[in-house]
Amino acid sequence: MKQPSLRSLVFLSAGLLSLGAAQAMAASAPATPSSAAMPPGVEQFVFGTLPDGRTVHGYRISSGGHVDMSVIEYGGIITSLKAPDRHGEKADIVLGFNSLEGYLSPAYKKLNPYFGALIGRYGNRIADGRFTLDGKTYQLATNDGPNHLHGGDEGFNQKLWQATPFSSSEGSGVVMRYTSADGEEGYPGELSVEVKYTLTHDDTLAIDYSARTTKATPVNLTQHSYFNLNGEGSGSILDHVMTIDAASYTPVNKTLIPTGEIETVAGTPFDFTQPTPIGARIEADNEQLTRGKGYDHNFVLAREPRPTPEHAARVTSPQSGRVLDVWTTEPGLQFYSGNFLDGSVTGKSGHAYGHRSGLALETQHFPDSPNQSGFPSTILQPGETLESHTVYRFSTED
Ligand code: GLA
Repeated sequence: MKQPSLRSLVFLSAGLLSLGAAQAMAASAPATPSSAAMPPGVEQFVFGTLPDGRTVHGYRISSGGHVDMSVIEYGGIITSLKAPDRHGEKADIVLGFNSLEGYLSPAYKKLNPYFGALIGRYGNRIADGRFTLDGKTYQLATNDGPNHLHGGDEGFNQKLWQATPFSSSEGSGVVMRYTSADGEEGYPGELSVEVKYTLTHDDTLAIDYSARTTKATPVNLTQHSYFNLNGEGSGSILDHVMTIDAASYTPVNKTLIPTGEIETVAGTPFDFTQPTPIGARIEADNEQLTRGKGYDHNFVLAREPRPTPEHAARVTSPQSGRVLDVWTTEPGLQFYSGNFLDGSVTGKSGHAYGHRSGLALETQHFPDSPNQSGFPSTILQPGETLESHTVYRFSTED
């Protein structure tokens, strides 16, 4: 599979914008139709039942390309994504579980890795779980040492989303909706969120986020899939070769809160401007790597969001030949090398997920932006619509 041409990318971006319009039109569509009414390319199934009795549906999506995936209403989690290697052999390349129990188990909750989930209201950390907006100070849960992480005690990753499957000329997918009540997890304003997953005919997963609020509030939405291009459960990702289109990154303090500086990657283990194996420098003597226990840092793609998605990163696996390219409108990319994975949970193929056995590329605004005046703003105002687009494209190389 060859690289997308500039022309096809322009098309892709235009397609994404029209998908956004379709998404707005779909807003009044009925929720969760019965499986008989499924659009082409989407199959509904029951993934499990929550302790309170609510059923969690899943959707198997295929678009006639080489990739197929499953997503569930709980957490908007991508539970499976199968892509071919250079010989056409398919493998599931995202970490996760075959059943809801996996995502609800005490061992999983203790580790809290957010496998495959939608993250909100605020992806990444807010220092001391506190911010001041229009003269008022808000205190959020501190669920990561002294800080607030990924939306708090019960973030969007643990919510039951309302799913509307669809198919369009670009492919098939599901629109996920969730309304977060005013005051949920301490955040101001009722926040209505839509996330549209589209698997296109050319092996692209487009993720279109939109949100509206009733009061000014910080929002930073992302997706927390862990990829292993050799197949989930197959071991470490340290052999994967990474390129990140970022000349700088945001160094962190001991609790992984940005210091506020924007530092060049040049001459550091954070320089992925040329393709470099992840393992090449991950153990280098570097204070930032010590703090992150590896890579767990926000890379600066741009100083403001971009109107259409731009290339952000490329990961290749020399072993399997699988390639993942990421485009986004977001200004930041958290590259997390799975440093907290410790073998304490066992994934869908029966293999324990060990240290660095998956990597996340979380497109986002910068961490702790509500407290950092030098970072692009994450405050959404009533009357505005937050729009954010990320594209993951799966291909192979020889
Ligand atoms: C993000 C954070 C990491 C870690 C993971 C989940 O990537 O930056 O520090 O919390 O989520 O384990």
